[in-house]
Amino acid sequence: MKVRSELTQVQPYQPGKPMEELRRELGLSHVIKLASNENPYGCSDHVKRALEAEIQMISRYPDGAAYQLKQAIAEYYGVTMEEIIVGSGSDELIGLVARTFLQPGTATVMATPTFSQYKWNATLQGADVVEVSLKNGTHDLSAMLAAITLETRVIWICNPNNPTGTYVNHQAVEQFLQQVPAHVLVVLDEAYAEYVTAEDYPESAKLLATYENLLILRTFSKIYGLASLRVAYGIGSSSLLQWLERVREPFNTSRFAQAAAVEAIRDQVFVDRCRKVNKQERDLLQARLEALKWRIYPSQTNFLLIQLSEGDDDLAWFDYLLHQGIIIRPGTPIQAPGTIRISVGLPEENQRVLQVIEQRRLPTSSKME
Ligand SMILES: Cc1ncc(COP(=O)(O)O)c(C=O)c1O
Repeated sequence: MKVRSELTQVQPYQPGKPMEELRRELGLSHVIKLASNENPYGCSDHVKRALEAEIQMISRYPDGAAYQLKQAIAEYYGVTMEEIIVGSGSDELIGLVARTFLQPGTATVMATPTFSQYKWNATLQGADVVEVSLKNGTHDLSAMLAAITLETRVIWICNPNNPTGTYVNHQAVEQFLQQVPAHVLVVLDEAYAEYVTAEDYPESAKLLATYENLLILRTFSKIYGLASLRVAYGIGSSSLLQWLERVREPFNTSRFAQAAAVEAIRDQVFVDRCRKVNKQERDLLQARLEALKWRIYPSQTNFLLIQLSEGDDDLAWFDYLLHQGIIIRPGTPIQAPGTIRISVGLPEENQRVLQVIEQRRLPTSSKME
């Protein structure tokens, strides 16, 4: 067999270790997963009721155009339905962008470290991937601008950035957009936007009227708590989206995903509650981890990236925590060696992970307890 040459450049995606797998491997009854930035509080009760009702329609194809969901999203943002595309997770939308714009001979610019799927999709398309290092833990927008060439088709800004949790503000994004040539699409991946409390975080939807080359990606997988349903959306000009629609699968989101997402976006009380408690818990986690003399990236999200001490091995920390029944994300496979990424969990989960970390990091003080 002779596969496409691009396939030799990529590896299958390595997700956060599933809880079921660790339970099986270690024979544990209880496992804490803090590896995939999921919402530990689940989802809105309205979503659960909508899912139950949708079971009646299980034998019928979903609405490929996701009319009701687009209507709910359009209402929420004050945009038209033609400015919305719905995807099976933002993973799919990232893939659609790559399939629409990237091919051999083109280039794409992204930060490093950042969310791995931009590079994976671009590499599969055979495009040149230009990676620009973060500066002080955030996107270096001027270096990214300088990396643009005539071949550049797409620039990816993960805001807040995964894995650092850091963000670029409204003014910086607007100044950046002013300087990006019109032939280059700017993708603002805002998967964690609903967790942000910083007041100068971009109001990116307001920029759409001026910049036709802007695509905003949002997901229902994070604060809305629908990760297993696979549903997300993009907002951009209708002239841009009509191209993405040409590469979208006809029934890319299920009935369940659409019905759930309609209720999810309408229940902003749930979202506000999750944002608030997440910040409280994140601040607590951060303070205790900093007391261990670790540097923590300033996060606006539901995860923290921890810079370990010199010579400390992230894979060893991952293994240690795994054997205590806690799954986190080591930095090595996500281009951030020497770091570990921990999602903010339930209060009792956060207490447990801190206790286990302190036991290894402060062996003498834990003996005294
Ligand atoms: C920055 C970012 N974008 C996109 C995704 C993909 O999310 P989903 O495909 O579940 O919408 C993730 C998931 O972790 C992410 O961190």
